[in-house]
Amino acid sequence: MSATKVLVLNGPNLGRLGKREPKTYGSTTYADLVDRLVKTGADLGLDVQVRQTDAEAEMISWLHEAADGRLPVVLNPAAWSHYSIAIADAVAQRTADLIEVHISNIHTREEFRHHSVISAYATGVIAGLGIEGYELALRRIAGS
Ligand code: DQA
Repeated sequence: MSATKVLVLNGPNLGRLGKREPKTYGSTTYADLVDRLVKTGADLGLDVQVRQTDAEAEMISWLHEAADGRLPVVLNPAAWSHYSIAIADAVAQRTADLIEVHISNIHTREEFRHHSVISAYATGVIAGLGIEGYELALRRIAGS
């Protein structure tokens, strides 16, 4: 049987992991994150594709691709979490599990980060566990 394909989708500024506010987001670079998730996925029998974009339209097209292909998704919507109804509407079309991940604990940060407009449409949410959160999401997808 072929490996289940999973999209790990990252929103704006996450391509700068490692350089970006390391006290909040850690020192792992985006390239390291990609390697780690592809390897974790392979161990779990998943074919993991990791993508990042700073462009909302591109993210929406990836979410449509996942919906049309019935692909599970791990999504870190980054700043879009807090205001993008367009991303929320695309997530609402999902046809497989979609787990929302935040590296930081958005609930202990600035007030404007406490609410995610995406969460109501996600299967579940992981926040504050660093990049391990992505791996936990993949484990959940592999087991479901
Ligand atoms: C984030 C939290 C968001 O508030 C922020 O805009 C991000 C990253 C996280 O992974 O902790 O860019 O989604």
